[in-house]
Amino acid sequence: MEIQQNVALAPLTTLGVGGCARFFVEAETVGDVEEAVGFARGRELPLFVLGGGSNLLVSDRGWDGLVLQVGILGIEEPSPTIFDVGAGVDWDELVAHCVARKFGGIECLSGIPGSVGGTPVQNVGAYGQEVSETIVSVLAFDLGENCGRELKAAECGFSYRSSIFNTSQRGRYIILRVTYQLFPDVKPSLRYGYLQKYFAGRDGTPSLSEVREVVRTIRASKGMLISASDPDSRSAGSFFKNPVLSTAQHGELVRRAGERGVEVPSYPALAQQRKVSAAWLVETSGFRKGYVKGNVGISGKHALAIVNRGGATAAEIVALKDEIQARVELYWGIRLEPEPVFVGF
Ligand code: EPU
Repeated sequence: MEIQQNVALAPLTTLGVGGCARFFVEAETVGDVEEAVGFARGRELPLFVLGGGSNLLVSDRGWDGLVLQVGILGIEEPSPTIFDVGAGVDWDELVAHCVARKFGGIECLSGIPGSVGGTPVQNVGAYGQEVSETIVSVLAFDLGENCGRELKAAECGFSYRSSIFNTSQRGRYIILRVTYQLFPDVKPSLRYGYLQKYFAGRDGTPSLSEVREVVRTIRASKGMLISASDPDSRSAGSFFKNPVLSTAQHGELVRRAGERGVEVPSYPALAQQRKVSAAWLVETSGFRKGYVKGNVGISGKHALAIVNRGGATAAEIVALKDEIQARVELYWGIRLEPEPVFVGF
């Protein structure tokens, strides 16, 4: 295991901004992880665990400590419906593997950038599925107890874009492996309006692989499929969460919308969880898709994605984030909460 110094973090993230890690190591085994933790402890260095870098904003200062990238690979199938997967496996490769084997449960999560280890942290979700529906357990290194520990799904505290790993126990665990239970030969999940619309009027049930392809096509149309040829995909995905409103807050939003002669859009998938569309709040506060501010801007394909237009600094990203939050709050009385993890701020 080689510990490197002054490693640029920007190329390891989908946003492509930020400074260097003072120390950097890629851990390919559980033993490597333990060794890296020992290195950080011995030198009293702050530790940051990097996954696929798809939901991160690294500060311009970088990380004055050790960045540990978990590169544990391997998809194991210890029993017929169980997939035990290394945290470093590319998420979309796992989805492709399972769809090809005709296992359902994660097909709507096709095309999401990042690694398997990141999926329980923010309970990754899209198009009507969340990983919490299929995760059975998570094997993690417990930095508090200095040993490996298996957490059952019920112990992970999953909710919308959240788990104990990014809330109450933030910084305590390094995720090593994730175990999913999938469903053999099932019909694909078509809970989301877009998908239902796409397949409406077609004969028969679409296959899992057709759903996978359609999800990837929809994601690409929103700039949410990483591609070197799509500058809108140089982002951290949705930069804000869809706010979950109380009845009173929702009432206030409807009242303000009424005053302005607009209607708050409602979609079954959002309404079920009392969420409102953050993208709509952004667009109706005066930001349009394709809004440009120096080297940063809002994706031309989706109002929730902040993009690095080339040569952006983290400070520019933060300034645009602040501007959006301030204007949405002024206009709608709602404070948008960022979704990505902020590193080194
Ligand atoms: N909308 C706009 N303007 C836009 C985009 C969307 O007004 O530019 C409105 C539309 O009316 C649309 C509604 O918002 O119908 C919902 O949009 P979309 O289906 O694109 O979903 P989202 O709420 O913006 C969420 C997730 C995405 C996930 C999609 C699909 C969050 C914060 N984002 O986006 O996840 O892929 O649903 O399920 O929950 C991510 O977390 O990084 C991410 C990309």
